[in-house]
Amino acid sequence: MPLISRRALLSGCVAPLLGAAAAAPAPGTAPRSPPREPGLNARALRKDLFYGAALDTRILRTDRTYMAQVPVECGFVVGEYSFKWSELRPEPDKYAFDHAELLVGYAARHGLRVRGHALVWYQSNPDWLEPMLKPDTGEKLLATHIRTTVGHFRKRVVHWDVVNEAIEPEDGKPNGLRDTLWLRALGPSYIDTAFHSCAMADPHALRVLNDYGMEYALPWQERRRGVMLDLLASLKARNVPIQALGLQAHLDGSETHLDQKLVSKFCADVASLGLKIVITEMDVRDNGLPADIAVRDAAIAAHARAYLDAVLPCPAVLGVVTWGLSDRRSWLDDQMPRADKLPQRPLPLDTEMHRKPLWTALAGALDLAPVRRGS
Ligand code: XIL
Repeated sequence: MPLISRRALLSGCVAPLLGAAAAAPAPGTAPRSPPREPGLNARALRKDLFYGAALDTRILRTDRTYMAQVPVECGFVVGEYSFKWSELRPEPDKYAFDHAELLVGYAARHGLRVRGHALVWYQSNPDWLEPMLKPDTGEKLLATHIRTTVGHFRKRVVHWDVVNEAIEPEDGKPNGLRDTLWLRALGPSYIDTAFHSCAMADPHALRVLNDYGMEYALPWQERRRGVMLDLLASLKARNVPIQALGLQAHLDGSETHLDQKLVSKFCADVASLGLKIVITEMDVRDNGLPADIAVRDAAIAAHARAYLDAVLPCPAVLGVVTWGLSDRRSWLDDQMPRADKLPQRPLPLDTEMHRKPLWTALAGALDLAPVRRGS
């Protein structure tokens, strides 16, 4: 029986260790199945990184086969929507924590850590919210929501995506901020309010600003990187308690503008502001790739590997989360379906819960990542 460290217990890599021990054949008998390769989080942990996945609570309630693989691969779980306003706030004076509690309870039982996503977003809000966001009362409403939610999950949710998708240079607003209900009602200081409220309610949870579209050498993404760096610098300059940038990394397997030097330079620029980086929602869409599964899987894996090989050497990077674990369910099939209607294959495990080339790419990139020092 191998010794299991406290860190392993906390981070969810116990299952593969126990699995390997349990599968060991008695002396003189042939092994029934080859020993299983360690899961992604076990590999990440060797480098002081983590791996996790977003989970839909419907899967949690109904899909035992899926859930059996979660502790094998993951050290973190994220609510795919259970922490969004539309779930938490059915009515102005009500908090409905039941779905989020389901996830947090599951995580506690399996020694997994939880990321909360997201305290402020312009989507997935209840209909009552926008009319109630008046300049005089809106700030209090936002601060109370964050203090109540973060306070409720204090010490049980260890990362928060405090503000999600705050920039959109194409909206033409000052400083490239996205034109959202929050910006319209409260002005740019809604971002400050959100981070301060989160820090007050749980000073120990990691506070993240999360956004997309910063991976490729494309003009619109170059503008986004510039706007993001300026925003981060201005938040730091006025002591807003932000601690990390979340890179969603919704990758496109057919995209030819992945420039590793540019990706690593951007990570270095973020790190030079004193911020950490989390890859928060990685998946690789294949709606621009041919139908053939082997071709698709190979292209997706190569693409992810190239991205991760550029990102993971950056010492500021703390870990990688994929937006789901298995192709059994992905938001991409709803929001960016393939023209031929075939299901996409954007995640590390296939619909049978078998490891795919994308899993191998993640494992290989984590194996090659340098060990963090002093993080
Ligand atoms: C998506 C979820 O996957 C869907 O189930 C939900 O209906 C809408 O939101 N970027 C984000 C996530 O930050 O919150 C989004 O999640 C995917 C894109």
